Amino acid sequence: MQIAIIGAGYVGLTSAAVYAKLGHTVFAVRKDAEKVAMLKRGQVPFYEPGLPELVAEGVASGRLIPTTSYAEAVPKAEVIFLCVGTPPLPSGEADLSQVFAAAKEVAENWGPSPSPLPKGEGDRAKARSGEETYKVIVDKSTVPVGTAEKVRKVIEENVKLKMQNVKCDFDVASCPEFLREGSAVHDTMNPDRVVIGVDSDRARDMLLKVHEGLPGERLVTDIATAEMLKYASNAFLATKISFINEIANLCDEVGANVDEVARGMGMDPRIGPAFLKAGIGYGGACFPKDTKALHSIAFWHDYDFKLLKAVIEVNQTQRRHFLQKIRQTLGTLEGKKIGILGLAFKNNTDDVRESAAVDISAWLIKEGAQVRAYDPHAEGNARAALPELITCPAPQEVAKDADALLLLTEWSEFRDLPWGTMKEKMRQPIVLDGRNLLDPKSMRDLGFTYISVGRP
Ligand code: UGA
Repeated sequence: MQIAIIGAGYVGLTSAAVYAKLGHTVFAVRKDAEKVAMLKRGQVPFYEPGLPELVAEGVASGRLIPTTSYAEAVPKAEVIFLCVGTPPLPSGEADLSQVFAAAKEVAENWGPSPSPLPKGEGDRAKARSGEETYKVIVDKSTVPVGTAEKVRKVIEENVKLKMQNVKCDFDVASCPEFLREGSAVHDTMNPDRVVIGVDSDRARDMLLKVHEGLPGERLVTDIATAEMLKYASNAFLATKISFINEIANLCDEVGANVDEVARGMGMDPRIGPAFLKAGIGYGGACFPKDTKALHSIAFWHDYDFKLLKAVIEVNQTQRRHFLQKIRQTLGTLEGKKIGILGLAFKNNTDDVRESAAVDISAWLIKEGAQVRAYDPHAEGNARAALPELITCPAPQEVAKDADALLLLTEWSEFRDLPWGTMKEKMRQPIVLDGRNLLDPKSMRDLGFTYISVGRP
């Protein structure tokens, strides 16, 4: 099939590369000419394991076509995915301006598409002559319920306005994405479920066809349900994390071990083991934004979503709680040399959006500490977010003369550091592990004062 993907970030580019791998022809549309030039060379402008290889393969095969031009992509596309950003407004609501701007440009570049599921030769002839303009416009960005309807209106109005002679036959749909940064390729190639929110059989059949070849269950719903399902999934995962973080805080008080509590809870299939890792709270471009957006959707419908409000509050307090632990351990922070291990919001990404590590670094700097940080991939993005931050090219350098080391991102390489040598470099052998990554007994055997979350 011929597909256009508008937006080439984590979701857009990964989806484009995977659809190309499945055999479709995919136009990946991004306005930034420099980034598109990179993509054409098979390079990816952000760190995502496995994605550069897949993009290079797609470009080399001719099936993945990066372009700055809607005019090149839209007329040929049968299915158009909108994968642009929906960042939070100060009110917490999702900012949909990029979605509507993309829909408008799609409409302005409307044109014939090959007949997607031809019923006969007549349809093929119609397609070739350009009369057939049926397309499915799919929201893949996380958007509030009702957005697909608004996208439909934007397209209708703008197609009419710009191209009175072109027949505009289309459906809108919602196909939420569930990939995680850091394992985006794996998640997209191996979805647990493919959710298809549609209000027409024709759109349903086309979207089922797009995803042919991928494993996972197909769940066909109406559009509003698909839109809500994505928010509900992210909010529930965020709830699991905030819940286990509160249990961890209580474990600190009562002397229990949250890792073991979570392990035991997870053995119950009704609970499941995933997303029960306690730490300094969730960050990233999704959970913080989507929980606030869902809360705000509830508010506008006069519904007080108390549980979600608490989830958000617990997450905001969790990183403050960790700062308090640092203060309790080190006393005043003024003049203290503190080494930070990890700046990304999670491992296997260079993304620092809503990163607890960056927040904590900023607070320490504000309190007069001398902070030096290391992250295998996120240093550049962290410095852009926090220009006062000094970064080092190796973990051993942040350990030098440090009064304490803070482990703030769960990079597995931190587990394998030569901790004995690290200790010799430090002024005081203190490690505060915000991700419960290291083994408390081994660290104490090495002579560290080792403090983690919910593991007294
Ligand atoms: C999340 C969802 O997991 C994806 O399913 C969804 O598609 C995506 O948001 C999105 O909406 O685009 P992502 O934010 O990339 O994915 O990464 P996660 O692995 O979910 O981690 C989010 C945050 O939670 C990270 O800061 C991570 O460190 C933290 N986390 C995760 C915990 O603190 N404990 C856990 O047990 C799991």
